Amino acid sequence: MRALRTSLSLMALLAAAPAAAQERPPLPADTLPAALHALPAPLGLPELATPLDAHHVALGRSLFFDPLLSQDRTVSCASCHEPAFGFASPQRFPLGIAGHRARRHAPSILNRAYATAQLWDGRAKDLEAQVLLPIADPDEMGLPVEQALERLRSDERYRALFAQSFANGAVDASNTATALAAFVRTLRTGNTPVDVFRERGDRTLLTKEELAGLWLWESKGGCWKCHSGPNFTDEQFHNTGVGAREGEPEPGRFAITGAEADRGAFKTPTLRALSRTAPYMHDGSIDTLEEVVAFYRRGGNANRSLDPKMQPLELSELEASYLVAFLKGLSRKVEAPSGTHPR
Ligand code: HEC
Ligand code: HEC
Repeated sequence: MRALRTSLSLMALLAAAPAAAQERPPLPADTLPAALHALPAPLGLPELATPLDAHHVALGRSLFFDPLLSQDRTVSCASCHEPAFGFASPQRFPLGIAGHRARRHAPSILNRAYATAQLWDGRAKDLEAQVLLPIADPDEMGLPVEQALERLRSDERYRALFAQSFANGAVDASNTATALAAFVRTLRTGNTPVDVFRERGDRTLLTKEELAGLWLWESKGGCWKCHSGPNFTDEQFHNTGVGAREGEPEPGRFAITGAEADRGAFKTPTLRALSRTAPYMHDGSIDTLEEVVAFYRRGGNANRSLDPKMQPLELSELEASYLVAFLKGLSRKVEAPSGTHPR
């Protein structure tokens, strides 16, 4: 009886609690394959110029999944770059610490090894310059980097990992950035029917709709003008009108360079893995690939610095559906050619 009363009062207590309870960021577990550093480039992408160091990758991997790097220990890098969602966030503006939300959509971080400038406005010149920013960002992990390093220094396992990974063994910002960046460089995706066609001239794995979409992408769709190269991005900045209100663009890249031509410009994202990375665009404002294609058909959002490459497209409904099929095809994996990994 007393037990019952205690549990009843406990329930009353719990019932009163939700006012304070907050939606919690997800904390995905690491279920990635072993020996990530040694996996060859997926079909369609070149090998990296510099081979990855196994110790750096292992340390960076541990840090990436560890909520220790956030102020209240509830957020890891993987909370916003979820492996199950192509290392993007399924939320429009992902949750950081204490109910805060990131100010932009968290993009996929697959194939960032092939880029230089990072972030939607390119304000980090490379991965090493980017990876510590979310730790200190008050809306993301909210932990000053020096405090994060103190936590790592007082953790025996991390002290050993740093000692193993670096000649100077120092638990410092530079080594932490090197390790996280090395891990991010292992996250790669390719090996789609489009890659088999591009690399080997074999079109048999493409559906008829995907093939028709590929021609449109290259011809009157004009998508290749910005989504070019093996990773389907020119890594440049363009104003497509996403986020523009009443003809007025957001600052975008202009805030970094001060160049008028960069007003409202954001980095061209990859077109790979899109089936897993919705919602789309720097503000997560578009939910489906059908709506993305509709956005391009009307020539983007009119504003005073729209990129001249953005023009309304003469596409029939059927052609629009082929473009969508092509975009989805870029997420479809083919059987691994012998000796490679199906990424
Ligand atoms: C609270 C959510 C959140 C957390 C936690 C987070 N990120 Fe991000 N990440 C974002 C957002 C939002 C952006 C885009 C921000 C922008 O461009 O202004 C981003 C961008 C990036 C990019 C650049 C991608 C590109 O296409 O340019 C990389 C790389 C990255 N994050 C890695 C990390 C790493 C490593 C960690 C952990 C140390 C981390 N992120 C933690 C939300 C998060
Ligand atoms: C003028 C350059 C340009 C052209 C042409 C262009 N894009 Fe884009 N694309 C971008 C930029 C820049 C973004 C990001 C815009 C933003 O978020 O502000 C983007 C975003 C996207 C996204 C969202 C990806 C994500 O992860 O959020 C998709 C899908 C896409 N484009 C498909 C296409 C297709 C299909 C075409 C051809 C019909 C096309 N694009 C033509 C520059 C371009």
